[in-house]
Amino acid sequence: MRIACDPRRFSNGISRFLQLPNGLDGDEHARFRALVDRYFTPAAMAEFAPACRAVARALVDRLPRDRPFDAVGDLGAPFAVRAQAAWLGWPVELERPLLDWLAARQEATRTGDREQLAAVAESFDAIVRSVVAPRRGGDGTRDVTDRLVNDVSLGRGLEEDEIVSILRNWTGGDLGSLALAVGVVVHALATRRGLAELLRDESSVERFDRAIEECLRLEDPFVASRRRVLEETEVAGCPVAAGRAISLDWAAANRDPDVFSPPDAFEPEANAAANLVYGIGPHVCPGRPLARLELRELVHALLAAAPEIALAGDPTRELPPLGGFRAVPVRFAFSRE
Ligand code: HEM
Repeated sequence: MRIACDPRRFSNGISRFLQLPNGLDGDEHARFRALVDRYFTPAAMAEFAPACRAVARALVDRLPRDRPFDAVGDLGAPFAVRAQAAWLGWPVELERPLLDWLAARQEATRTGDREQLAAVAESFDAIVRSVVAPRRGGDGTRDVTDRLVNDVSLGRGLEEDEIVSILRNWTGGDLGSLALAVGVVVHALATRRGLAELLRDESSVERFDRAIEECLRLEDPFVASRRRVLEETEVAGCPVAAGRAISLDWAAANRDPDVFSPPDAFEPEANAAANLVYGIGPHVCPGRPLARLELRELVHALLAAAPEIALAGDPTRELPPLGGFRAVPVRFAFSRE
């Protein structure tokens, strides 16, 4: 938390690629961050909610009732892609290329293969440029992508590379984390006694979100972020030299035994204030309202589909630098067995 909240000593300028707003510091970050935040206001989320609900219901309706399915591959990944495409106004034909891109990106992240990562980034940029081009010169009202392409809130229009970078971070940040988050939440629904009852109670959205985020704290899908040390300093007794690249391990911080006591206990109310699933400081996740909305709608659709969700085999864990599960076999259960 000290590092994330001290941008003067710990810079986000760590990648040689343009990353908006992630890779910026200081005033420049604040300007781009203000632009980005306008897309995640309560009003913007309320406008998207019906479409998000429709995506969640349609996908859950198509899940098999008589055999197991994988909560990540059959549900999390397609839901993340479809919900995001619906939010951005992207055509359904892009679903397959986006799913292929997501799978290739997760694989390249797992192996850390730089060449593969660069190839995957290029294939994604081609997808993004195909949605940007037809919106050039629009009036910004067609959809969220049109609004961004024609955004002049910085006092000027955005360059092509800036638009692509922002969209890359909205999708790159979202699709992988959200697909994994769905796996974590469904796994918790299948294994954690009393969670389904808690989530069926629709009287408090805040309590619902806290329960979901406590599941994510325990199995953090967003494992780490990077920073560059600008000034020699010390963190928790550990000396850090200027110029070093360091990693903020959110998953470990989310299980800090000095803060969460004991770290493995499921305590949504007690742990909410210290939960770091969406980060902290100036780079705290701007997409949190959208991620919350999407998870809420999907969980409601799942809970409406059957009285219970049961594990149908052993889940396979993801490996760092990814978190959560690679696969979670589950099935709908219509009567207690
Ligand atoms: C369950 C889903 C998600 C999780 C767990 C998550 C987690 C995080 C975390 C921990 C950070 C802080 C990174 C840092 O300090 O360096 C972050 C930043 C960010 N997230 Fe998310 N996120 C999620 C969904 C989304 C969504 C839906 C979007 C947008 C559509 C998004 C876009 C971003 C962006 C652009 C940043 C960088 C913000 C900045 O540098 O100012 N994320 N996210």
